[in-house]
Amino acid sequence: MQALEKLTVTTAPTDTMKAVVHHQYGEPEGLMVSEVGKPVPGDDDVLIRVVAAGVSIGDHHIITGKPYLVRLSPFGGFPRPKNPVPGAAMSGRIEAVGAKVTAFRVGDEVFGQALNGAFAEYLVMPAKLIAHKPKNLSFEEAAAVPWGTTALQGLRDAGRVKPGERVLIYGASGAVGTWAVQLAKSLGAQVTAVCSTRNADLVRSLGADEVIDYTKTDFAEGGARFDVMMDMVGNRALSDCKAVLKQGGRYVPCSGGGGDWIGPFVRIISGLLTFLFGGKFFKLFVQNVNAADLVVMRELVETNTVKPVLDRTWLLSEAGAALRHVGTGHSRGLNVIRILDSSRA
Ligand SMILES: NC(=O)c1ccc[n+]([C@@H]2O[C@H](COP(=O)([O-])OP(=O)(O)OC[C@H]3O[C@@H](n4cnc5c(N)ncnc54)[C@H](OP(=O)(O)O)[C@@H]3O)[C@@H](O)[C@H]2O)c1
Repeated sequence: MQALEKLTVTTAPTDTMKAVVHHQYGEPEGLMVSEVGKPVPGDDDVLIRVVAAGVSIGDHHIITGKPYLVRLSPFGGFPRPKNPVPGAAMSGRIEAVGAKVTAFRVGDEVFGQALNGAFAEYLVMPAKLIAHKPKNLSFEEAAAVPWGTTALQGLRDAGRVKPGERVLIYGASGAVGTWAVQLAKSLGAQVTAVCSTRNADLVRSLGADEVIDYTKTDFAEGGARFDVMMDMVGNRALSDCKAVLKQGGRYVPCSGGGGDWIGPFVRIISGLLTFLFGGKFFKLFVQNVNAADLVVMRELVETNTVKPVLDRTWLLSEAGAALRHVGTGHSRGLNVIRILDSSRA
C-alpha cells in the first residue's frame, strides 16, 4: 500500500490545480484563481489536499508588498513575488508522502503553517512542520490554530507569564488576540483585554477578567499596572506601554506598528532605547513555526482549554475580498478560505 502511495507522487508532476496567484504586488482585488502545476513532494515532504486556509494581516502584507521590507524577506521577493501562490496556515488531508516520511500516512488529517502556497488545492510541506488536526475541530477551525502558536510563544516564551500575574492583551479581538486572551488565562494570569465596543462580549466570553473598550477608555490612564503587555496593535507610544508595566514587567510587541517603509525597524530601535533603563523589559519575538507548538495547541484545543474564533468563511474565488477584509485591521478572530467543499473533505 505504502509503495503504491509513493508511486502516486512520482506520477503527479503533470497534474494541475486551482490556486490563487499573484505575480506582482498590489491591492488584493487583483488576485485571480488560475490553473497552475500541482507541487511534487520531496523525500521529507507530504502532499496535502488543502481543505481550508487561514487569511491574516500577514498575508495582506505579502500580497501588497507593504511594508516594503517584506519584499526582502523569504515571504516576498524583489522586484516581484518569488512565490506566486500566497497563503500560509492551512488544514487538509494527506494525499501522498515522501519516501522518508514515517510520522504521517495517506488520508491523515493535518494542519500547519507553510511559508507560502496554501491558497491552493494542493500544498507540499516538510513533514516536520505539520501536526495531526485536533479531533474536535472542523477543517476551517483547524486552519485558525497556527495563530495560537504566535500567541503562545509571545506569552509563554517572550512574556514568561506566570500564574497570578496581570496581563494586558492589546488588540484582543483579532486573529492573534483571541488566542492570547485564552492562553493567558490558561497560564493562570489575570487578563485585561483591550478591544472596541462591538467585541467586548466576545473577549469576555473568552475568559477576560476585565475588558477595556478603547473607544471609551484609554488603557494607559487609570493607574492599573501589569506584569506583561502583549501588543497586537503597535499604535501607542512606547513610553505609554512602559508606563503601564510594574517593575520587572515585560512588553511583548507582536505588531511592527505600521508604516510602509521601515516602520517595524523604527519601533524596534525605539523600543530597545525606551526600555534600556528602568527595570522593565522589551521582549521582541518573531513567531517560530514548529510542529511541537502545533501539538501543544492541539492538546489545549482537545481538552477544551482554548478554542478558535472564526470571523468569516470565504471561497477560494473570494480570496481578494477576504484579504481586503483582513487588511482593515478589524478582523474578529480568524478569516478562513474554504478550498475543498465540505461534502468532499
Ligand atoms: N511577531 C510575529 O511573529 C507575528 C505573527 C503574527 C502576527 N503578527 C502581527 O500581529 C499583529 C496582529 O495580528 P492579527 O492577525 O491579530 O491582526 P488582526 O486580526 O487584524 O487584529 C487586529 C486587532 O487590533 C485591534 N485594533 C485595531 N485598531 C485598534 C486601535 N486603534 N486601538 C486598539 N485596538 C485596535 C482590532 O480590534 P477592533 O476590531 O475591536 O478595533 C483587532 O483586535 C499584526 O501587526 C501582525 O502583523 C506578528
